[in-house]
Amino acid sequence: MNMKIIVTGGAGFIGSNFVRYVGRERPDWQIVVYDKLTYAGNRLNIAGLSEDRVKLVVADICDEASIDAAVADCDAVVHFAAESHNDNSLHSPRPFIDTNIVGTYQILQAVRKHGKRLHHISTDEVYGDLALDDPAKFNPETPYNPSSPYSSTKASSDLLVRAWVRSFGIQATISNCSNNYGPYQHVEKFIPRQITEILEGRRPKLYGTGENVRDWIHTEDHSSGVLTILENGKNGETYLIGADGERNNKDVIELILEIMGKDPHDYEHVEDRPGHDLRYAIDASKLYGELGWRPKYTDFRAGLSETIDWYKQNSDWWQPQKDSTEAKYQEIGR
Ligand code: NAD
Ligand code: TYD
Repeated sequence: MNMKIIVTGGAGFIGSNFVRYVGRERPDWQIVVYDKLTYAGNRLNIAGLSEDRVKLVVADICDEASIDAAVADCDAVVHFAAESHNDNSLHSPRPFIDTNIVGTYQILQAVRKHGKRLHHISTDEVYGDLALDDPAKFNPETPYNPSSPYSSTKASSDLLVRAWVRSFGIQATISNCSNNYGPYQHVEKFIPRQITEILEGRRPKLYGTGENVRDWIHTEDHSSGVLTILENGKNGETYLIGADGERNNKDVIELILEIMGKDPHDYEHVEDRPGHDLRYAIDASKLYGELGWRPKYTDFRAGLSETIDWYKQNSDWWQPQKDSTEAKYQEIGR
């Protein structure tokens, strides 16, 4: 079926990768990128896509009139827009309340009013963290237990979506994905920060002991999971997206250094993040079993090497963000 979708946050990291993915996989669809272009949004992330098929609306999801008008004129909304960085949320939580909670509320009201389908993008961080030796992984029944202002506002937005499904009968699905990596990720985040520190001739920065585990997934696999759920997911359901990519931060930094031809032990230990979640791990068996989804990037080293090459070849893209990002880290001593 031909669709016209709104992708909120479509000029950010994961949203823009999704826009490119849908552009390739569904050549008949129209895509409206609805994005405020905060420090994390960038027009260049969707540059080169056909202007007949991909339109950018620069607006805030908290703006009731703008979101209402956009939603009235589409078939479905895929909602990626968020304040997304834990370290920022510890420093200044207010924008997280506005965008992640109030913004999601405005989208819910608009899809309710106009009877449109919503897919809400969330994170595994809503479940809190796991012990390193816990055999369990997060699954759709795991109780919510968020730790940071970021994860608690994402948890709040998920609960609003569930309430709008039950109380008002909107058509919505939710996905909670693990840590993404790939091209177009802002240099404030772990993997691109380390790659670009090395490219700038500085040492990577490891928080605390580096034993914290993240369950890495290539952003292309996140995109295929979201499209699968948008087209085939059951109304009201939550699906977890993950690709069995658990690695601790120390191993990831050492692997980046090794792939880039450096001494794998040449990194700095910096002060730990307050409240730092220890381990995330996703059980994606519902998505595998019910919807037949499979990830393609199952070789982390290969996906990471490609990502490193992308940052090497696209310094014009990341250089303008780099100094201001490191200045923020300097302020907080990390
Ligand atoms: P990002 O910070 O790279 O991009 C966010 C985008 O949203 C930017 O383009 C920004 O301009 C836009 N935006 C922010 N506030 C807005 C507002 N008020 N109105 C309109 N647009 C606004 O984030 P990301 O890493 O691409 O994450 C996208 C989504 O995926 C988020 O919902 C995040 O919680 C979720 N997620 C991220 C990860 C990850 O590893 N990065 C993992 C799981 C889930
Ligand atoms: P991040 O990319 O901020 O994602 P999240 O907090 O959502 O997991 O960080 C990933 C992990 O890397 C997290 O455990 C914190 C750690 N980290 C570092 O060790 N050094 C860094 O410079 C950054 C930015 C993060």
